[in-house]
Amino acid sequence: MTRILGIETSCDETAVAVVEDGRLILSNVVASQIDLHRQYGGVFPEVASRQHVVTIVPVIREALEQSGLAWRDMDAVATTYGPGLPGSLLVGLNVAKGLAWSQGVPLVAVNHLEAHIYANWLALPGQPLEPPPAFPAVCLVVSGGHTLLALMSGHGAYRVLGQTLDDAAGEAFDKVARLLGLPYPGGPSIQQAAKDGDPAAFALPRAWLGDSLDFSFSGLKTAVLHLVEDSEAIGRRGRKLAAPLPAGVMRRLAVPDLAASFQDAVVDVLVEKTRRAASEYRAAEVLLAGGVAANERLRTRMRQALEVPVRIPPPSLCTDNAAIVASAAYWHFQRGELAPWSLDIEPNARLPQNARVA
Ligand code: KG4
Ligand code: ZN
Repeated sequence: MTRILGIETSCDETAVAVVEDGRLILSNVVASQIDLHRQYGGVFPEVASRQHVVTIVPVIREALEQSGLAWRDMDAVATTYGPGLPGSLLVGLNVAKGLAWSQGVPLVAVNHLEAHIYANWLALPGQPLEPPPAFPAVCLVVSGGHTLLALMSGHGAYRVLGQTLDDAAGEAFDKVARLLGLPYPGGPSIQQAAKDGDPAAFALPRAWLGDSLDFSFSGLKTAVLHLVEDSEAIGRRGRKLAAPLPAGVMRRLAVPDLAASFQDAVVDVLVEKTRRAASEYRAAEVLLAGGVAANERLRTRMRQALEVPVRIPPPSLCTDNAAIVASAAYWHFQRGELAPWSLDIEPNARLPQNARVA
C-alpha cells in the first residue's frame, strides 16, 4: 500500500490531499482564493502566491488530519512543478521539499497537465472505484491555461495530438464572461447565464483549422467583443460591427443568448475534434480533464456524440485540487521516478512526451 501526500499551488487554489495507491482519496482539501481575486476580475499573481504562503500549513494539517493518518504513514510527498504561475509554484515546491526532507521520504515532481488527466483514476470518497481507464486513451485537457488533445498509450506515455494556437478554452470563458459583465471565474458564470439563453441566437465562428487537431479561440473571443462593443445595452460604443447582427436580433444584447451561443461554439469544436481524434487513433476510451470539463453542456454533448466510452471526472476533481497530483505521483513513484533535491519550478512546462508512444 502506497500513500502519497500531494501539494498543488500552481494557480489560485492552495490544495493538499492524501491518496492511496493512486486511486483512493483519503483526504482532499482545497482552499480557494476565488473571493480574493474576484475584485480584480482574474487571478492577481502576487496576491495568489502570498495567499499560498498564508494558507499552506493549515491546509496540510487539515489534509493529514482528515486522512486519519500520521506522517510516518506517508511514502512520499508530491508537488506540482509546472506549468503555472512562478510565485505560486515556488510556494508548493519549497514546502514539499522541506516536508520530504524533514520526514525522510522521497519527493515526486508532477506535471500539472498530467495531474489533471489522473482525475480519471480517482473516485470521490464513499463512491465505488470504477475499473481503471483502458489504453490507448484520447485525453482532452481543457483548463484555464491549456487546451490540448493527447494520446495516452500507458502510464506516463503521451503524445500531444493538438493544442491551442492562442487562448485556452477556460481563458476564453473567463475573458468573454468579463466582456459580458459576468463575475469571475467565467466558466461557471457563463454556464449559469447560458441556461436562460438560446444557443442559436448568434452565429459565432468556429475555428476548424482544416483537418488539424489544433484549436483556436481568439477569433471567437473577438467576435463576441465586436458584438458587445456595438451593443447599446452594455453601453460600450465607438466601433463598427465586424458583421451585421443576425436578422431578428435587436441591437440590445441579450447576455444569456450570447453566453449560450458562445458556450456552444466552444463545445462544438471541443466535441468534434475529440471525436475525430478518438476515431483516428482508435481510442479505447476518451478521458476529459481540467476545469472546463466541469461544464455541463460539454459533458452532455461529449457523451452524446462519441462512439467510444467517455470518462468525465466529477466537477470537483476537474478543477484544481491535490488528489490529482498525488494520483499521478503514484505511477511515477512506482517507476522509481523520484525528484532530485535540486528540483526547480517550470512555469512553462509542457505535457511530457514519451518516446515509447508510436
Ligand atoms: O483546471 P483549472 O481549475 O485551473 C487551471 O489549471 O487553469 O481550470 C480553471 C478554468 C477557468 O478558466 C474556469 O473558468 C474554467 O476552468 N471552468 C469552467 C467551468 N468551471 C471552471 N469553464 C466552463 N464551465 C464550467 N462549469
Ligand atoms: Zn489546473
